[in-house]
Amino acid sequence: MIKLYINCKKKKGYINPEIYGHFSEHLGRCIYEGLYVGEESEVPNVKGMRKDVVAALRELKIPVLRWPGGCFADEYHWKDGIGPKKERKKMINTNWGGVIEDNSFGTHEFFELCEQLGCKAYVNGNVGSGSVQEISEWVEYMTLDGTSPMADQRKKNGREKPWKVDYFGVGNENWGCGGNMTPDYYAHLYRRYQTFVRCYDKDAPVFKICGGANGDDYEWTEVVLRECHRSPAPPEAHGFMDGLSVHYYVGVEKGLHKGSATEFDQKDWFYTLNRALRMEELICRHGAIMDQYDPEKKIGMIVDEWGCWHDVELGTNPGFLYQQNTMRDALVAGITLNIFNRHCDRVKMACIAQIVNVLQSVILTEGADMILTPTYHVFHMYRYHQGAELVESYLEGGKQIGQDDTQSIYNVQESVSEDCEGILTITLNNLDPNDDQEIEIILQEKEKGQVVEAKILHGDMRSYNTFEKPDHVAEEVFTNYEIKDRGLKLVLPACSVLLLRIK
Ligand code: AHR
Repeated sequence: MIKLYINCKKKKGYINPEIYGHFSEHLGRCIYEGLYVGEESEVPNVKGMRKDVVAALRELKIPVLRWPGGCFADEYHWKDGIGPKKERKKMINTNWGGVIEDNSFGTHEFFELCEQLGCKAYVNGNVGSGSVQEISEWVEYMTLDGTSPMADQRKKNGREKPWKVDYFGVGNENWGCGGNMTPDYYAHLYRRYQTFVRCYDKDAPVFKICGGANGDDYEWTEVVLRECHRSPAPPEAHGFMDGLSVHYYVGVEKGLHKGSATEFDQKDWFYTLNRALRMEELICRHGAIMDQYDPEKKIGMIVDEWGCWHDVELGTNPGFLYQQNTMRDALVAGITLNIFNRHCDRVKMACIAQIVNVLQSVILTEGADMILTPTYHVFHMYRYHQGAELVESYLEGGKQIGQDDTQSIYNVQESVSEDCEGILTITLNNLDPNDDQEIEIILQEKEKGQVVEAKILHGDMRSYNTFEKPDHVAEEVFTNYEIKDRGLKLVLPACSVLLLRIK
């Protein structure tokens, strides 16, 4: 029997809703087909945005959307994506399949999408192949109220009022597809480029994100912080950076292949989940470097790309990164979001890669049809953590499962929060593909709890949804618990993600 102790009185920090963010890139069928079909499409849409996809995403309460990339951001020239669509310049998407990008989805369309989703906007600028002037004019175009060359052009293109750019990324993966730079070189460019990300409305500051490390590249973090963390004199007293990104993907490495999304064995299962749990180590180690330069934790860690990266589905364009999504992906999402919650003092935003039809998506589409993936259901169950207070919790008696050092993991993972109405949200993961686990939840400092909602997502480790069987893996009401004097007892099924809400 595992015991989960919850110390209801001990609050450990605010869970920024943006930890539950998403990423949309001009890659494969993410933007085109997945989110945007154009106004002339037979697929039901509002101003070109798919009605079904927008409605499903609204259910997740998605807090923030990152766009236009990814690698694509560092070859995107925003002026090609404004004005009459027929006149927009076409380009080759060299990173992703060499297909023609017609720029019919640009700045205005992105903000329209954010408005329909009710989410914040995270725009990623081009440092790799773009100029300071381009970034500076883009920010002016998007955010300046009043008269200026860029604001006037925006108005001419049909948008009178400026938009709010909540987050602005200064380049992407500049150690790789964003320019193959050394950390020193990027750090100096960053200082320069970010200077021209002007704040035109002091009530709507733009949160500037410095491009961060690939996985465990701690040297990158060290150098960019050393060169860029310090606060210059007012009026820019908030410093050169408000956030520093980290990217981390999880996959099985099989020579040149990553392994199939759906055909895998238990060895791959343990390997993948072990890799996902490494997120904790990355946060701690990058966080320790950040603590040296920023002990007050003013700079947010922004994990703006994370998730599973498998081989593409057979017969699909290798440059489109289209993959299926099983209970293994659901567990990776559950584990990772629990880790982010537990580190909410430093992790201020995270974006799963990517929102629709690319990598670990929450939605897959085929023509006018759409299905929700197991990962969608995890985000749906976890939505209650957004904006809640992390509560101290402790697991006792967990079992080590898996076969050797690269695969061995503890079978149960958790996080707990309390919302403004005093309702506790407990999310539990059983990483064991075979065995159920009995758990006793002990609510310290709280009288008998009343369960207000209990949902479970479970199945065989390889189960997934298809267009023929869209609800094969879906949330179900969970009843296998028993109320006790100071908490409850339950049986957590093998391979599952559980949501419990207790008053
Ligand atoms: O998400 C796919 C790609 O992965 C992004 O474009 C890039 O930033 C990362 O390497």
